[in-house]
This record gives sequence, C-alpha cells and structure tokens, in this order.
Amino acid sequence: MTVVQVTYTIMGERRTVEGAEGQTLLQIALDHSLPMEHACGGNGFCTTCLCRVEAGMEHLTPRSDREEGMGIDTDPQRLCCQTKLSGTGPVEVTAEEF
Ligand code: FES
Repeated sequence: MTVVQVTYTIMGERRTVEGAEGQTLLQIALDHSLPMEHACGGNGFCTTCLCRVEAGMEHLTPRSDREEGMGIDTDPQRLCCQTKLSGTGPVEVTAEEF
C-alpha cells in the first residue's frame, strides 16, 4: 500500500495527514476527523466538498463525469468525494469558500 501525504487547509486550519492510494480526498479527511463538508454523503451531487488542488494534481485520478456534470470542470477545482489518490504524492488541497 502506498502511503501518501495529504495536506488540507479547511477553514484556515492546515494539517498534513496520511492517506492510501485509492482513497478519496473526502475519505482521508473524514478518517482524520477533519471538518470537510459532505452534504450529499460523498455521492457527487452537492459540491460542498469542493476543493482547490494547490499541489499534486498529477497524483490524483482524472476528473470524473460526475464532476463535469456538476460543473466542476476546470483545474484546480475538484470534488473531494470524487477524487482519489493515484500516485505517491504529496498532495495539497484547500477546501473552503474561495
Ligand atoms: S460530498 Fe457532495 S459532492 Fe462531494
């Protein structure tokens, strides 16, 4: 299992945690009790998990049809519930109003 360092900035709080290849950015945040919004339960229907990828986009899965369907179609914006780790990282994201 590849362990990947993911740094989150949520509501101004910055924290680096470890995730595993194949996990979504939302799963990793919730596993570490980070307060990431996920109103639709991680199903790609609400955009409350919207983030800006500050670094490491190349270590994430390609944009999904669901993201594009929700209008999240331009880098660096991604939906954390639809975006999985696919490489060795590190990855840095900001998830807050921006
Ligand atoms: S949690 Fe609703 S779109 Fe990601």
